[in-house]
Amino acid sequence: METTATAVEADLIASLPANFRWGVATSAYQIEGAVDEDGRTPSIWDTYCRVPGMVHNGENGDVACDHYHRMPEDVALIKELGVDTYRFSVAWPRVQPRGSGPVNEKGLAFYDRLVDELLGKGIDPWVTLYHWDLPQELEDAGGWPVRDTAYRFADYAMMVFDKLQDRVRIWTTLNEPWCTAMLGYYEGRQAPGRQEFPAAIASVHHLLLGHGLATQRMREAASSPIEIGITLNMGSSYPATDSAADREAARRADGLGARIYLDPLRYGRYPKDVVADLVQRGVEIPVRDGDLEIISAPIDVLGVNYYSSHRYSGVGEDGASRDADGLPVTRAVMAGLPVTDMGWEIVPSGFTDLLVRLGRDYPGLPMVITENGSAFPDEADADGFVQDDDRTAYFQSHIGAVAAARQAGADVRGYFAWSLMDNFEWSYGYAKRFGIVRVDYETQRRTLKASALWYRDTIRRVRGGA
Ligand code: NOJ
Repeated sequence: METTATAVEADLIASLPANFRWGVATSAYQIEGAVDEDGRTPSIWDTYCRVPGMVHNGENGDVACDHYHRMPEDVALIKELGVDTYRFSVAWPRVQPRGSGPVNEKGLAFYDRLVDELLGKGIDPWVTLYHWDLPQELEDAGGWPVRDTAYRFADYAMMVFDKLQDRVRIWTTLNEPWCTAMLGYYEGRQAPGRQEFPAAIASVHHLLLGHGLATQRMREAASSPIEIGITLNMGSSYPATDSAADREAARRADGLGARIYLDPLRYGRYPKDVVADLVQRGVEIPVRDGDLEIISAPIDVLGVNYYSSHRYSGVGEDGASRDADGLPVTRAVMAGLPVTDMGWEIVPSGFTDLLVRLGRDYPGLPMVITENGSAFPDEADADGFVQDDDRTAYFQSHIGAVAAARQAGADVRGYFAWSLMDNFEWSYGYAKRFGIVRVDYETQRRTLKASALWYRDTIRRVRGGA
């Protein structure tokens, strides 16, 4: 009998252990809406969305999935999926509207209710403390390029921790600091939309410092066992050819994309080659005495968000290996593979390679896939149902890739689908749909897509329930 790729993937998935953690993930600004209720004040995303041309169709998170008002219904939906864990983020501007000063009890109460609702249904809450919604007042004071923001973050983290630590066991400090630093402060493609490379590098350091400060303080204050981690978005970085220039380009991309976070977190030092690359660009990481000790405070889990992998060329389209500023070219090139609706190439093997490599280079650190998923141009039938075979195939190949990495020695303990439901996809607005549940934004009706049914059945099978 012919062995198809999907049969191989199904076998791989079946090899996952019964105690593997299965979840779905969301983030506050992408789903909550209710942006000026119960004392919430604007975050950098509320501001950014109002800058003409920054977000597709001029859209924003004012209403989003109206989750703030539909939370119990959404938790019931999560229950229906049969997952054991729900990863969500807390909105800083709800809990501490000014980014400093006293807690806003009304805002915090929402997460208190959410946690109780989840626990009541037997679902573990997994809290992410920062998923990109910095209070606008802190950005006005300089934002992440300013050192004080790290201390503000740790104070805010403790407000949430003090309230929820009696019921929440798993905590993620930051979601995808690369996006905050590089897209927010260098490329300007996300809030706050600044384009200053030195500010982006300072942000990297202050994000890591904020993570370390919060980790230390939560650990000290914990009255029962907790797990703390950070979530990084990463892919495999391959050289486009075997040339020295392309290999160098892949090294640089991996340095700024992954190792600039992983090495200080794990080993308490920035990678020498990355520091040298930065010096070449006239930029220094603003490290002070003692910072790296704080940043490398032990963590229990590394969250990995994976969407795609890239190949890099050290030669520009004009054939030159230096850009106009005389700096070496680092150019991502397409491999000609099928893409999702985001234009991102579908590379499950890059996922396996990444996890195996992380396990090898950073041993002793359990990993959980805190996000993986895909946007496709869904078409709903009259009942709102979407037969999203493309998304299901993506999940199947990528969960298979995780299982393959485990078989090759990577210590991966769980997997979260991004996302529970269609939501506000940042600069892409509502045009890109990542949900396994369809949201009709006119009526706010939720409908499980075919991929949700597949996910539910897969989890059940792996657990040995069917
Ligand atoms: C990662 C981010 O954490 C999430 O907010 C976003 O929606 C997905 N990537 C898809 O782009």
